[in-house]
Amino acid sequence: MARKPIASILPGTAGNLRFLADRLRAGHLVGVPTETVYGLAADALNARACRKIFVAKGRPASDPLIVHIAELADLAKIAVPNQPALTLAKAFWPGPLTLVLPRTGIVPALVSAGLPSVAVRMPAHPLFRRLLKLTGRPLAAPSANPFGYISPTTAAHVHASLGARIGHILDGGPARIGLESTIVDLRDPSRPRLIRPGAISRAELSRVLGRPVLLPERVLARPGARIAPGLFKRHYSPRTSLTLHRRFSASLIARGKSDEAWLFIAKPAGPLAKNIFWLDARGDLRGVGRRLFARLRALDVAGYRRIHVESATGDGAADAINDRLRRAAAR
Ligand code: TXA
Ligand code: MG
Repeated sequence: MARKPIASILPGTAGNLRFLADRLRAGHLVGVPTETVYGLAADALNARACRKIFVAKGRPASDPLIVHIAELADLAKIAVPNQPALTLAKAFWPGPLTLVLPRTGIVPALVSAGLPSVAVRMPAHPLFRRLLKLTGRPLAAPSANPFGYISPTTAAHVHASLGARIGHILDGGPARIGLESTIVDLRDPSRPRLIRPGAISRAELSRVLGRPVLLPERVLARPGARIAPGLFKRHYSPRTSLTLHRRFSASLIARGKSDEAWLFIAKPAGPLAKNIFWLDARGDLRGVGRRLFARLRALDVAGYRRIHVESATGDGAADAINDRLRRAAAR
């Protein structure tokens, strides 16, 4: 039996970028850095290549992929843009914003899970942008994690969970934002709707559009229910049980056992036991978002029986953090 290939992690030299662009054009998968999380990329116009993404991730065919483009001019090749889409693209691209629009015929049906729409994003990471331009194709890329597990924010995370299933990972350093992009549904331009909260808040989107961006329809009460294709109630989950708390109290922690971890948003005061952790010393939510997934991965393999996490409070950034924490805690 053939030995399993072990992915190599490549720095973003000019030679490596040309090599990886060739691999992508030949229909292979490449792990790529983005400013949000690492992605698992394939030529978005090659159905056979995109099928490999679903196999490598163990992702259900009902969960559509995000297509990444290098230039605004590429948008109209794969989607049918409308005025609000162009307004948001001008304000936030390149950046952590994905737009759902009607799709054109060149996008293979499997990329958008058979839907008449497609999700499009122009990423900001300089190495991924260079790779997109060298490849000369739009690249479909979901987060590079096995389906349902914590998203990767470093090349080493991708290697740890998908290294036996792909050949190459482009190393772009730790992801600057650390949470997946904000997704807005613009299929109906008069009713923009948030599908997934991210670093760009609903308030910012509403301000730029000059009209409210609606909340997703809440159908999450039913087990297995989804607010959009691919948005599952349970997601981003460590294997260790995770309990989400509104706020930690000292007595709660005192009663906790030493084989349970306590993850705070900000650094708590006083002498701290070994099983106390925090996401950002001062509780800055950008730092919290950047470190959340890496910390959950580290705690997941540290042998704790349970991980307790405190919710974030505050403006838009807290929505994205709490959304990921709620899904990580769901069973
Ligand atoms: O930040 C990000 O968006 C990262 C990086 C790699 O760009 N990508 C990412 O992809 O988070 P993924 O596969 O983990 O999330 C894709 C989600 C789907 O699960 C679904 O919720 C939504 O995007 N989506 C994609 N196509 C859609 C469509 N046609 N209609 C509605 N939602 C769609
Ligand atoms: Mg994902």
